[in-house]
Amino acid sequence: MNKTAVITGGTKGIGKAIIQKLAQEGFDIITCSRSWDELEELKAEIEEDADVTVHIMRADLSLRTDTDAFIKTINQTVDRIDILVNNTGVFLPGELTSEPEGNLELMIQTNLYSAYHLTRGVIDKMKDRKSGDIFNMCSIASITAYPNGGSYSISKFAMYGMSKVLREELKPFGIRVVSVLPGATLTNSWSGIDIPEERFMKASDVADAVWGAHSLSKNSVVEEIVIRPQLGDL
Ligand SMILES: NC(=O)c1ccc[n+]([C@@H]2O[C@H](COP(=O)([O-])OP(=O)(O)OC[C@H]3O[C@@H](n4cnc5c(N)ncnc54)[C@H](OP(=O)(O)O)[C@@H]3O)[C@@H](O)[C@H]2O)c1
Repeated sequence: MNKTAVITGGTKGIGKAIIQKLAQEGFDIITCSRSWDELEELKAEIEEDADVTVHIMRADLSLRTDTDAFIKTINQTVDRIDILVNNTGVFLPGELTSEPEGNLELMIQTNLYSAYHLTRGVIDKMKDRKSGDIFNMCSIASITAYPNGGSYSISKFAMYGMSKVLREELKPFGIRVVSVLPGATLTNSWSGIDIPEERFMKASDVADAVWGAHSLSKNSVVEEIVIRPQLGDL
């Protein structure tokens, strides 16, 4: 039986790169996003390249009802979860005092609450086996405030806080919790920005760092992965 990884928001960017890496390593995948067409494309692409199964579900994780439905699907579909990647996130730039009303709510719901509820909803599968790795997609914006970061930065500070709490709580269960803090990574989040490609990290580098952390012996945990463009933050 293949190992299983749950990755939220897997059709693009960092989530997709992690799915590609884990599928190459023989993991069955469960993922979600808001676009059924893109999910079907992802499933076909990954299953053509690797001998694994990709389970897909359309779910908007900014909504509690969809998050609960995804949790139910996960718990009904797989017996084990070896890796959980809380990756879903949206970036709406702005400043606290002038950003549109509702930015904070949307990004807290999408970037934080989705991970909180999903983790709570599936954690028993890891606790029962006393094993599993959780990767929480934080950001350099989790530790650095910058102009135009706005509510995104608030949501990512909160995600980092949640990740640290989980790390402490899950130590006795043999579950490793890793906070991933990438800098600027070339994905859809940056579409339309006029900055040379070489200035960004590759999503595949974040995926390789995740795989490296997973590959250590169970005696060790990489608590934080801080990874930046070689020339520094944008
Ligand atoms: N790129 C960067 O520079 C960077 C740096 C630091 C941290 N991060 C973090 O890394 C994570 C991934 O970012 P990315 O740049 O790879 O983003 P991306 O390219 O925009 O991909 C985001 C993925 O999440 C899905 N998604 C977005 N909103 C969703 C929702 N409400 N419900 C379900 N799925 C949703 C998207 O699909 P749909 O839109 O079709 O739903 C897509 O599959 C985020 O948490 C982001 O904050 C990114």
